[in-house]
Amino acid sequence: MIRRYVIGNPIETDSVVKVISPESGIVPYFQTLDKEKALTLPMSKWDKVFGLGETVRGINKRGFKYISNCKDDNSHTEDKNSLYAAQNFFVYYGKEQCFGMYVDTPGKVCFDIGDTDINVFSIVFEDFDSNIYVIDGDSILDIVKQFRGIIGKSYIPPKWAFGFGQSRWGYKSAQDVRDVVNNYEALDMPLDAVYLDIDYMERYKDFTVNSETFPDFKGFVKEMKDKGIHLVPIIDAGVKIEEGYDVYEEGVKEGYFVKKENGENLVAAVWPGRVHFPDFLNEKTRKWFGDKYKVLLDMGIDGFWNDMNEPAIFYTEDNLRDVFEEIKKYEGKNLDITSFFRFQGIVEGLQNNPEDFKRFYHEYKGKRYRHDKVHNLYGFNMTRAAGESFERNSPDKKILMFSRASYIGMHRYAGVWTGDNQTWWSHLLMNIQQMPALNMCGFLYCGADVGGFWGDTTEDLLMRWTEFAIFTPLFRNHSLRDTRNQEYYRFTDKEGFRNLLRLRYALIPYLYLEFVKAAENDEMLFKPLCFEYPDDEMCYETEDQLFMGDNIMLAPIYKQNATGRYVYLPEDMKMVRFRSFEDYDEEVMQKGIHFVRAELNELLVFIRKGKSLPLAKPANRTGDIDETDLTYIKY
Ligand code: GLC
Repeated sequence: MIRRYVIGNPIETDSVVKVISPESGIVPYFQTLDKEKALTLPMSKWDKVFGLGETVRGINKRGFKYISNCKDDNSHTEDKNSLYAAQNFFVYYGKEQCFGMYVDTPGKVCFDIGDTDINVFSIVFEDFDSNIYVIDGDSILDIVKQFRGIIGKSYIPPKWAFGFGQSRWGYKSAQDVRDVVNNYEALDMPLDAVYLDIDYMERYKDFTVNSETFPDFKGFVKEMKDKGIHLVPIIDAGVKIEEGYDVYEEGVKEGYFVKKENGENLVAAVWPGRVHFPDFLNEKTRKWFGDKYKVLLDMGIDGFWNDMNEPAIFYTEDNLRDVFEEIKKYEGKNLDITSFFRFQGIVEGLQNNPEDFKRFYHEYKGKRYRHDKVHNLYGFNMTRAAGESFERNSPDKKILMFSRASYIGMHRYAGVWTGDNQTWWSHLLMNIQQMPALNMCGFLYCGADVGGFWGDTTEDLLMRWTEFAIFTPLFRNHSLRDTRNQEYYRFTDKEGFRNLLRLRYALIPYLYLEFVKAAENDEMLFKPLCFEYPDDEMCYETEDQLFMGDNIMLAPIYKQNATGRYVYLPEDMKMVRFRSFEDYDEEVMQKGIHFVRAELNELLVFIRKGKSLPLAKPANRTGDIDETDLTYIKY
């Protein structure tokens, strides 16, 4: 049962597609504190909270403060309250009460889940205006399913998007991309896509291609397509200010960019230097910007990743002017304990400054809103602009799309990747723990930068990470320029990596089937153990294992130098230790705790009783997989 409660005057977000008439009473379970703009709930010792999508920390969110405020933060340490996404759905699971809640408001909301007071859950609003959906159900999975039922079906990408994609910020030319493809081919390693980061553009301008480094782009796209490789270009939110650039000029002429209070277009800066931001909340702008993707679609492109759409702001021209004024005051002075740090902070504070989000406005559903009031809708609506145009212009074509910033509702148009992680073992664990929370919020097509984005990866980290990532729908190895190159062919154990890539392709029939089932039935692809075994206390303690689809459980190794790990089996299972898709051993194991060994190149999968894991003969492209010729490992 789902009930809707209205607090104040909520701004519509279009995240919920089912019409639910509002209830008259106050929000159940929580106490409403109007003066504090908060809802609060005392938590019993045992109670747990799950969900909130892409955030830091574990599967049970208790014990920390999560702030819904899409943020370009490139250091996802465990003290970070906000990452790129705003996904305000959670399930409260206690011995006395169990319910789901979706806090639908585009502004800032803080979910203080026992951070300030370990026994109190409070939801604190910047503006006390929100639609609140309260969901009662028989189980966590039932609550999730009901919630998913009101937000609309999850995006299903084209099948090739389940293949492996190689990416790197730093492929500077068509020749660089060709080299990547050739290297994979030379080693007989599967690959379906190469991602094009901002290097492909002309001076970082959206919908342009650098004709010197990528001459005859259309021909190049075809050359790659002929080899079965899809090129997936990035699109950024900011539009470069440059005379003669059509996107800029049209945007200015038609008034498509966000404006300051005085009516001038906001000048901010991202990769190209000065940019204007399209007002994606405005339907007309969405249509215009969405149609621009056609420039690349017409060249044969069939996939995109939308970036910097929180939006990320290096600085605004107005703030920069003030900062230059301010730092002059420090010139020639003795910078001491206070003044030095203040001075340093002034310059650092330029990037993603919260005050800048108050400098501009949107035209949204016939009204004008200051950006910070609708901040969390920006990335969603950029991606929706593209999604709506694909539906309009290419209804029969399946196009890959995922975004960095997100809000619930965007899951109908695209997937997400989890942004700029690090080459840290803890970020492999974070990847594992984020997947189910994302699924709860409708985001099924997701994945992390495998191997880590920032920093130099190591062969063992990449290997272990890949052992998990071959199960994530989006499977992309991506890294930052000037870090160690991390394409799989660069490392010593080429055979080990080839085996893992092939295993991924062998798994695609299972992965795709389970994915489509989850999308069509509003279910989760990755489930924490306790979602299936709510009466088994050990399952709550086990936050590093997941059910994946209906048939298997994963227990990835995410610690350096480990040659095994403890695994908790909530039921009898068959463990399969894969060295490759055809070289594996099987062992039936009883419910309980086991220490299981897995060398660096060995991957463990646990098959549930009465279930099987189908494996195809691996191919080097998704399209070459023979789905009629499957081997089943059965238990
Ligand atoms: C952002 C993205 C990253 C990309 C970079 C350059 O940091 O998150 O994936 O490589 O921008 O475009």
